[in-house]
Amino acid sequence: MATAKAHTNIALVKYWGKSDQELILPQTSSLSLTLDEFFTTTKVNFDDQLTSDQVIVDNQQLDEKSARKVVHVLDIVRQLSGRQAFGRVESHNNVPMAAGLASSASAFAALAGAASTAAGLSLSRRDLSRLARRGSGSATRSIYGGLVEWQKGTNDKDSYAIPVMEKVDFPIEMMAVLINTKKKKVSSRSGMQLSVTTSPYYDVWRQVVAADMVAIKKAIDQRDINAIGHIAEENALRMHALTLSADPGYTYFNAETLTIINAVKDLRAGGINCYYTMDAGPNVKIIYDRKDRQAIIGALSKIISCDRLVVSQPGPGIKIWND
Ligand code: DP6
Repeated sequence: MATAKAHTNIALVKYWGKSDQELILPQTSSLSLTLDEFFTTTKVNFDDQLTSDQVIVDNQQLDEKSARKVVHVLDIVRQLSGRQAFGRVESHNNVPMAAGLASSASAFAALAGAASTAAGLSLSRRDLSRLARRGSGSATRSIYGGLVEWQKGTNDKDSYAIPVMEKVDFPIEMMAVLINTKKKKVSSRSGMQLSVTTSPYYDVWRQVVAADMVAIKKAIDQRDINAIGHIAEENALRMHALTLSADPGYTYFNAETLTIINAVKDLRAGGINCYYTMDAGPNVKIIYDRKDRQAIIGALSKIISCDRLVVSQPGPGIKIWND
């Protein structure tokens, strides 16, 4: 039996498209910030008495269809370890509200750590990153803390994450603005595939990301939060242009998303440097220097309730222990 705790991450240069859907190899590299505030703790036990894999998330047993991606990772672990037994997976997400931040990144990173250890494997962090990738692309990066690069590679062996700055030594902070949505969203898995196959801008996106990766690593080196924020914001908008330009086109933005984006722009026009990014849902994440936190909360709390603003520091890498 083993338990792992992994934190979620938010991409500053996004992953949006696969070159291999089975191995989850990305079209481009990407770069993210691991967050302290949001994490998943997962316990795995391989047990000869079980007659099927059991997956329990936040005290609810998943049906076969919902558990499919988890079972896929367990199958890979069984293959690697030569073990036959079925597994019991029990997972808890630490997310302040049910508002779409329950990320597959922390979930599949924790699963990779707990399942491989429970099966008696002792994988390097690189191999853990590769295993997490088989569950969900963004999980590749959640093995490490701080600022992390997922190097796209060309095959299963060389597509993994590396730490860029595990202990972030400058005052970058991220605020999640939790926006409610009732609409069923397009999953990132199917959304990104639709962009790859139908957006006429997809080739240009590859070039955008290649340039952004160089620029953001230079900005990180210089601890330049404004440059990091600016690159992240432009990159997010260009990623979301791939959803609008797909066929059929779609968007993750809703009216409130745009309201928050405008508030961030107003803050910036007023001299507070802050920048926004969004993923496969309506929530907005704001990037800024810690010293500006109160000014940003002050401005946003005029348009959205304070309990929907969640501040997070950079977070740590995965922790795994045997129970
Ligand atoms: C917008 O990692 O959820 O958050 O690999 O199909 O499981 P799959 O997709 P997923 O996609 C994440 C997309 C994103 C950008 C990012 O995290 O880089």
